[in-house]
Amino acid sequence: MSIICSEKFSLYYGNKLAVNQVSMEVKTGGVTAIIGPSGCGKSSFLRSINRMNELIPNTRVEGRLMVRGQNVYDKKIDLVTLRRQVGMVFQRPNPFPKSIFDNIAYGPRLQGVRSRTTLGGIVETCLKKAALWEEVKETLSKSALALSGGQQQRLCIARALATQPGVLLMDEPCSALDPIATGKIEELIVALKEQYTIVIVTHNMQQAARISDRTAFFCLGELIEYNDTNTIFTNPSNPQTEAYITGRFG
Ligand SMILES: Nc1ncnc2c1ncn2[C@@H]1O[C@H](COP(=O)(O)OP(=O)(O)OP(=O)(O)O)[C@@H](O)[C@H]1O
Ligand SMILES: [Mg+2]
Repeated sequence: MSIICSEKFSLYYGNKLAVNQVSMEVKTGGVTAIIGPSGCGKSSFLRSINRMNELIPNTRVEGRLMVRGQNVYDKKIDLVTLRRQVGMVFQRPNPFPKSIFDNIAYGPRLQGVRSRTTLGGIVETCLKKAALWEEVKETLSKSALALSGGQQQRLCIARALATQPGVLLMDEPCSALDPIATGKIEELIVALKEQYTIVIVTHNMQQAARISDRTAFFCLGELIEYNDTNTIFTNPSNPQTEAYITGRFG
């Protein structure tokens, strides 16, 4: 069963076509990596899945993009619910200027959870899932801004998990981090993929090869090739994919 399914999905910024008739299915569970040269529409496609693109003026979409069988561009879709189900982690860690506890409790509070005990349980579970609990359990009331970059990114992942999403979108989540922090996030992604469907945009091809099950190669807004990661990296069908993964362009 596919949890995400795009059918000839296109996205325009004004007249500029950024995503061109992409048809792609993402199976439930596992990690799907999106790779491709700068400007090829990776982030645009990713942001389309939870309609984050709508924060940018003059965007227009064509085709269909389904999450769990529902077209996310259907007028009846409730955006708050959609973004709760489809969480997002960005390139730069973006904790709220609040305590560690309040960052994680933010989403559940919006959903109406008031009990301090329940919130405490959610905070602990999510920090454990994000492999941050041991480092912060004594300092939950301290500002999240005082954490290191890698810790902040794990906090942002914990915050995304707190609304119990089925899907986690990650746009270059390690690009602002050092190799050690990157390694931790990669381990975390691999641990989370049993429970969540993860779609990650990355410029780091070793990273895509290390952590993803399937890889999609985008070029100039189009989906060129999509297959098991191993096939994409060892035996791609398309010459453009091969040129990109062997470093001859992009
Ligand atoms: N807010 C915007 N307004 C207008 N055009 C945009 C906007 N964001 C992106 N674009 C254009 O859409 C195209 C796809 O951009 P996108 O950011 O999706 O690429 P990308 O593959 O994520 O690139 P990178 O690897 O550099 O992050 C590019 O030509 C870009 O210039
Ligand atoms: Mg991008």
